[in-house]
Amino acid sequence: MLDAKPNDLNAFWMPFTANRQFKANPRMFTAARDMHFTTSDGRQVLDGTAGLWCCNAGHCRPRITEAVQHQVAELDYAPAFQMGHPLAFELANRLVDLAPDGIDHVFYTNSGSESVETALKIALAYHRARGEGQRTRLIGRERGYHGVNFGGISVGGIVNNRKVFGSLLAGVDHLPHTHIPENRMSRGQPEHGAHLADELERIIALHGAETVAAVIVEPMAGSTGVLLPPKGYLQRLREITAKHGILLIFDEVITGFGRLGSAFAAQHYGVTPDMMTTAKGLTNGVIPMGAVFASGAIHDAFMQGPEHLIELFHGYTYSGNPIAAAAGIATLDTYREEGLFERCAELAPYWQEALHSLSDARHVIDIRNEGLIGAVELEPIAGQPTKRAFDAFLKAYDKGILIRTTGDIIAMSPPLIISREQIDQLVDTLRDVLNSLD
Ligand SMILES: Cc1ncc(COP(=O)(O)O)c(C=O)c1O
Repeated sequence: MLDAKPNDLNAFWMPFTANRQFKANPRMFTAARDMHFTTSDGRQVLDGTAGLWCCNAGHCRPRITEAVQHQVAELDYAPAFQMGHPLAFELANRLVDLAPDGIDHVFYTNSGSESVETALKIALAYHRARGEGQRTRLIGRERGYHGVNFGGISVGGIVNNRKVFGSLLAGVDHLPHTHIPENRMSRGQPEHGAHLADELERIIALHGAETVAAVIVEPMAGSTGVLLPPKGYLQRLREITAKHGILLIFDEVITGFGRLGSAFAAQHYGVTPDMMTTAKGLTNGVIPMGAVFASGAIHDAFMQGPEHLIELFHGYTYSGNPIAAAAGIATLDTYREEGLFERCAELAPYWQEALHSLSDARHVIDIRNEGLIGAVELEPIAGQPTKRAFDAFLKAYDKGILIRTTGDIIAMSPPLIISREQIDQLVDTLRDVLNSLD
């Protein structure tokens, strides 16, 4: 015990972090409430990112905190296989009530990455259950982010997340991304680029439609820097996949639970996929939990054969964990009671105008927005990609706002409880930061 060194930062190998930079100049949060974090040096930092796109109702919300505290003392854990507990069923019913018509089952996971793996496996097993086991190909998209497990990085299209991890899954192809110069400075959904969905026809023709199991895309690509679907693009993907008997999976890990002003992007854009992958806002980020939403047709294809046999050989020790389920129910209650999805839709025009007022700030080359999500893209420093945005992140933190960067793009996705004054604070501070950068 005498050897314990609680303040030594060395042992924790931090995820998606510049470890040496961080440990030389640590940035620590020690508390949070509503829209703010408290830092270890006692400052308040406005949360411009809902944590990691997950705390949609803000921080330490009493209903969720109490639900977790109660549940951990009541039923801390129940085996997830061949046993159940009521809250997991209650939450599943509540979730399918929010989903588009026809999506009426959920399979629990513990993260967005696991939701993606689960959906890809269900897609393959679904075709096999229907006697089409030759449908093994998966199609993702350039710049797509589908978490960090092997299936997800295989269908994903962020080069640094893939290139050092070997040969990945076989039989994967990628659509082109939708980020085209004609759409610079678009407000909301861009006008140009629906034709990019037609590339799917080309890829399908190349491989033979009967070999393709599923197409997976983020309806709005968040982690790569907020790339919006051009008008008509998602509808076209839906038409093509339906025509060829290919499943369409929307990765709604960021867009789910109100971020665009509807429960899911599927409703916001008026396109219903066959499966949706979710996590993050499902429990307001409080306890790890994810869920894959599946259509009745997919679910029912598995419900055959002798009834004592397991229909899908897949699941996690913590699938539907009681504490996570309690957090999920309390989170959905909070969203509903406070009308947060509607609030997001109401604030979206104000957010859009505020964000686009940055168009004449230094280094800004593009601004994109939808719902309560936005990106400000910066001209990279020659020969030092990512550095300018990272410098902005550090300065912003010093000035009391939390933003997120990916490459030279600043992404923001505040909790849906943000006020207009706080939007102004976020944008005004960011303007000062950008104008002070070399
Ligand atoms: C669209 C999408 N899918 C999957 C993931 C992975 O989620 P997790 O980090 O919970 O594994 C993310 C995380 O940002 C995401 O944005």
